[in-house]
Amino acid sequence: MDLFEYQARDLFAKHDVPVLDGEVIDTPEAARAAAERLGGRVVVKAQVKTGGRGKAGGVKVAADPADAVAKAEAILGMDIKGHTVHRVMLAPTADIVDEYYVSILLDRTNRTFLAMASVEGGMEIEEVAATKPEALAKIPVDAIEGVTPEKAREIVAAANFPAEIADQVTNVLVRLWDVFLKEDALLVEVNPLVKTGDGRIVALDGKVSLDANAEFRQPEHAALEDKAAANPLEAAAKERGLNYVKLEGGNVGIIGNGAGLVMSTLDVVAYAGEKHGGVKPANFLDIGGGASAEVMANGLEIILGDPEVRSVFVNVFGGITACDAVANGIVQALALLKTKGEDVNKPLVVRLDGNNAELGRKILTDAAHPLVEQVDTMDGAADRAAELAAK
Ligand SMILES: Nc1ncnc2c1ncn2[C@@H]1O[C@H](COP(=O)(O)OP(=O)(O)OP(=O)(O)O)[C@@H](O)[C@H]1O
Ligand SMILES: [Mg+2]
Repeated sequence: MDLFEYQARDLFAKHDVPVLDGEVIDTPEAARAAAERLGGRVVVKAQVKTGGRGKAGGVKVAADPADAVAKAEAILGMDIKGHTVHRVMLAPTADIVDEYYVSILLDRTNRTFLAMASVEGGMEIEEVAATKPEALAKIPVDAIEGVTPEKAREIVAAANFPAEIADQVTNVLVRLWDVFLKEDALLVEVNPLVKTGDGRIVALDGKVSLDANAEFRQPEHAALEDKAAANPLEAAAKERGLNYVKLEGGNVGIIGNGAGLVMSTLDVVAYAGEKHGGVKPANFLDIGGGASAEVMANGLEIILGDPEVRSVFVNVFGGITACDAVANGIVQALALLKTKGEDVNKPLVVRLDGNNAELGRKILTDAAHPLVEQVDTMDGAADRAAELAAK
């Protein structure tokens, strides 16, 4: 889960990373009182979960409270790379002498954590990495040891931070590791980390991405979720504990068992869809190994509730959960949805293979549900589901 800048700022403050004061508002008028409280001259910053806000005109300095109202008015409602600005954060203007970059992230490729730092901050770090790779220090961080003061000093030295601020940056890195570790983050980035006129080091902009897999031990993180922006289908699926991802612009609902099988089902449907006017899969849904009737019903309910879905492809390879159990699950799920008053009116193409496939197929044949159609092969079933969605 990516956080807004103001949320990252709050987490930084909680772990004693030096930050500026700030106030988040959602109407231009509210900018006046906020700016007055923050000292009059402020920075007005769009709160959207995307980079390059400054370049897009989403970060503006206001000379006084009246100007803050005008700047907030200009930024609120703005579209930045497809993200509408609903809130702005006001912060006191910092007297910036120098801008730096620091981050800590999970480095999946190298199976470690990684700290990155550069004295070429402010501008986009991707640009620094591409044009001046030697200016971006990359230091692996051991998961057990973390960023100790020694490790932090190594990072500071590798990035050539000036001697007079080395201690402060070292301290910031150790505290950022605290944020990373204690909040279960996947990314903690500060750009820019600045040196102010009075020689202090302050994190002026923060990006934090939290690990959703750690939600169970981070109850406070639920409050950070941007409920308004969540896809309602994904939210409903999450409530039911389903592994579901909505894919925009697709018409074939997908249910499968096992993430790998579902991924390849998406590919096969997209490929088959090309012959039927560019029909695409509408979602990812992995119902996992033990596909009970209830799980199947929950999955079907979410998918059938997607107005974009015109046909459903149930692709199951029986393993520990045999196909007869899955077939019974489908039959019971359809009955369950009917008793719940859901109108099941979209065709289902079912492909069963693997353990007890024949028995499973027989169960579906005997049930003879008018909307259920069986196809023996994955390619054939994908083609049929795409054809039905194109109708
Ligand atoms: N409180 C502040 N006082 C003075 N200048 C600021 C302040 N906050 C930001 N700035 C200036 O604006 C620039 C851009 O701000 P910031 O890093 O927050 O946004 P951004 O980098 O454009 O957005 P993103 O991180 O989304 O790419 C900073 O590099 C800094 O020069
Ligand atoms: Mg920035």
